Amino acid sequence: MNRLNHKVAVITGAARGIGLATAKKFLAEGASIAIWDIDRESGKAAIQQLREFGGKARFYPVDTANLNEVTNAAGQVNEELGRIDILVNNAGIIRDASLKKMSAEQWQQVINVNLTGVFHCTKAVYPYMAEQGWGRILNAASVVAHYGNFGQTNYVAAKAGVIGMTRVWAREFGRKGITVNAVAPGFIQTEMTGSLPELLIQELITKTPVGRMGEAEDIANAYLFLASEEASFINGAVLNVDGGLVL
Ligand code: NAI
Repeated sequence: MNRLNHKVAVITGAARGIGLATAKKFLAEGASIAIWDIDRESGKAAIQQLREFGGKARFYPVDTANLNEVTNAAGQVNEELGRIDILVNNAGIIRDASLKKMSAEQWQQVINVNLTGVFHCTKAVYPYMAEQGWGRILNAASVVAHYGNFGQTNYVAAKAGVIGMTRVWAREFGRKGITVNAVAPGFIQTEMTGSLPELLIQELITKTPVGRMGEAEDIANAYLFLASEEASFINGAVLNVDGGLVL
């Protein structure tokens, strides 16, 4: 299928997990991919894996919390791949602790990547999208932004902020042909959730009507749909992809 033919997509945090699954899906649909990730080794390994999907995929070592690195990378992608059509703001980290134990550093690290990083990347790609009059911005939120989660003051604050920014940008960019939407994943099997205790995972599965944890591909499918032409009238939405965990 060629739903993203001739499109260029920047996917942050795509060296592994949901971002990498999204890169595979987008490549298979005809897009060229720029991976922006802080982890050089995994970034290079990801490019090797993406070879079999054909098309162009490049890795750019970028810390999304650093505005200079992000702005330079956007310029490089535009020069090397010719344009920027899609941005998936996927990079994210966790530094969990109850409020009582959370340090100012843990708070700030998560805000810097999960909230400010999204601001940086969107600000850097917006001029390219606005000039061509077409763009798709897709933000990684989380179901915990809707109901809170023990030990995640920093993470929930950032993800709730991402939902807020999604709605602001949907209003600001709509007339430029750019839509902005968020995906709120439930619990997805990746390295991020790899350290959850087995008992908690079983409890989450019990609470999920479809009776399983999500896979990275479940989220990639949602990003693909929202990036495609079929989603052109969807703007400012938050799509829960959680098997019905939050109803
Ligand atoms: P992951 O931990 O497997 O992958 C995250 C990627 O982001 C890694 O490749 C990492 O190197 C990169 N990264 C971290 N800090 C970065 C920075 N400053 N600059 C550039 N890259 C950076 O995570 P996963 O599970 O694939 O999650 C992807 C997104 O989905 C995150 O935003 C996460 O918060 C969100 N999400 C994940 C859920 C889950 O259950 N796995 C649930 C809800 C949301």
